[in-house]
Amino acid sequence: MTPEKKILCIGAGYVGGPTMAVIAHKCPDYQVTVVDINPERIDQWNSDSLPIFEPGLDPIVKRARGRNLFFSTDIEKGIRENDIIFVSVNTPTKTFGVGSGMAADLQYWEKTARQILEHSDAPKIIIEKSTLPVKTAQAMERILTTNHKKVRFDVLSNPEFLAEGTAVRDLEKPDRVLIGAHRTPEGKKAQDVLVDIYTRWVPRDRILTCDIWSSELSKLVSNAFLAQRVSSINAVSALCEKTDADITQVARAVGMDGRIGNRFLNASVGFGGSCFQKDILNLVYLCRHYGLHEAADYWEGVIRINDHQKNRFVFNMLNAMFNTLANKKICMFGFAFKADTGDTRESPAIFISKKLLEEKAALVITDPKALPNARIDLRGIDQNVRYVEDPYEAVAGTHAIAVLTEWGLYRTLDYQKIFDAMVQPAFIFDGRNILDHNALFEIGFNVYPIGKPALTHF
Ligand code: NAD
Ligand code: UGA
Repeated sequence: MTPEKKILCIGAGYVGGPTMAVIAHKCPDYQVTVVDINPERIDQWNSDSLPIFEPGLDPIVKRARGRNLFFSTDIEKGIRENDIIFVSVNTPTKTFGVGSGMAADLQYWEKTARQILEHSDAPKIIIEKSTLPVKTAQAMERILTTNHKKVRFDVLSNPEFLAEGTAVRDLEKPDRVLIGAHRTPEGKKAQDVLVDIYTRWVPRDRILTCDIWSSELSKLVSNAFLAQRVSSINAVSALCEKTDADITQVARAVGMDGRIGNRFLNASVGFGGSCFQKDILNLVYLCRHYGLHEAADYWEGVIRINDHQKNRFVFNMLNAMFNTLANKKICMFGFAFKADTGDTRESPAIFISKKLLEEKAALVITDPKALPNARIDLRGIDQNVRYVEDPYEAVAGTHAIAVLTEWGLYRTLDYQKIFDAMVQPAFIFDGRNILDHNALFEIGFNVYPIGKPALTHF
C-alpha cells in the first residue's frame, strides 16, 4: 500500500526519536523514517533497548517499528525518497571562535542543509525542529536556494516544546503546536501540509501558525521564561534560609495567584538539561548582537542565579559538615538532571560532583537510569567515585546523602535502615525538597532542605 505521506526526520535524539514515534503511532498510514549519522544510536533504536529512557515510549516504538516507523543510517536515501523532512539535529553552544560560550553552534545544522540540497531532485518541505537562533531559517533557505538544480524548497519552523520524562504525554497532548511559515501563498501551502499532520490528533485550536521569525523566537523565549521561574524561586530560597521563612509556603502563596500560576515553582539545587542554559545564552547573544545590552544582562541573570544556587548547595554542605569534606564519603541520590530520564546533560549533579571531588570527598553515586551517563560525565576524574545501583548498598558507610534528582523512589526508602548504615552524625542535604524532613530529623539525621530552616541535633 502506498503511504499517504512519507516523512523523514534527520536526527534520532531525544526529540527526533519520540516525536517521530508519536507521529507514526497517530498516523499509521504515513511512513516515517528517522536517520542519524550515529550508527550505534540507530542500532539501539532498532533493538529492544532504546537509546533513551522515556516513560511510555517503548510500547509505541515497538508497535510502529517495521510497520510505518523505520530507523536508518542511510541519510542520502532518506532525503531522496521523502518530500517532508524534519531536521532535529543538535545545536549546542559554540565552544570556539566568535560567540564562543554563547552562540549556537550551527555546524551540524548547516551540514544537514547542504546534504539536503545535494540529494534532492524533487520539491521538499524542510521543517526546523531543532531550537535555533532567530533568522536561521533564512540561512537554511539561502543555502537551499543557491542550487543549480532549480528544486523548490519551503522552510518551516516547528519548534518542539516536549520536556524529557514526560515526552510522550507532551507530544500526545501538547499545550500548543507552533508552526512558522512565510506569509506567501507557497509558505501557506507548506504550512497546511504540516497542519494536516498534526490535526490527526491535536485539536485545531491548539495549532498556532505565525511567521517564521516569531516562531523561532517564541521557542527561545518559552525556555527563558521557564528557566527564569526556577531561578526566581531559587533566588528566594536563599533568602528563606537566612530569614527562617519556608520556600514551600512562599511558593504556595505566590502560586495561588492565578496570574502567576503554581507550576514550575519548585526550589531546587538548580536547573539542568540540555536546553535551558544553551537557549538563554543564545538569547543573550542575540540581544547583545542587536546592541540590547540591558536585555542581555537581564536574561544572563537567570544563569548567574542558577550557578549561584549550585555553588550555594556545595558551600552549605561544607559549612554543615564542620568545614571539611576531605576523606568523607558522600552518597548522591540521583545524577539525572530531572526524574524519569537517564539524561545527564548539564545536570547540576555533574557540577556538584566536581566540586565535592575538589574538596577531596569520596562519592558514591546511585541513580535508577543515569549511571551509564554519569560514568561518561566523570570519566578521568572518578578515581574516588563508586557507581552503585542499589541505594541501600550505596549509603552504607557514608557520612552524608545529597538528593540531587527527584526520583519517586527516594521518597519511599526505609530511612531508619539507611540511618543505621551511615557514619554518625549523619547528614541529608535535600536538593529537591522531596523528603519528609521532620521524620528524618526524628530518626536522628541532620537535615538541610533548600529554602527552609535546617533541622539539626547540634
Ligand atoms: P540529541 O543530541 O539527543 O540528538 C541529535 C541527533 O542528531 C544526534 O543523534 C546526532 O547524532 C544527530 N546528528 C547530528 N548531526 C547530524 C547530521 N548531519 N545528520 C544526521 N544526524 C545528525 O539532541 P536533542 O536533545 O534531540 O535535541 C535536538 C534539538 O531539539 C536541539 O536543537 C534542542 O535544542 C531541541 N530540543 C530538545 C529538547 C529536549 O528535551 N532534549 C526539547 C525541545 C527541543
Ligand atoms: C524544558 C522545557 O520544559 C520544555 O518545554 C522544552 O521543550 C525543553 O526544555 C527543551 O527545549 O529542551 P526539560 O529540560 O526536558 O524541558 O525539563 P524541565 O521539566 O523543563 O526541567 C528543566 C530543569 O529545571 C530540570 O533540571 C528540573 O529539575 C528543573 N526544575 C524544573 C526545577 O528545578 N524546578 C521546577 O519547578 C521545574
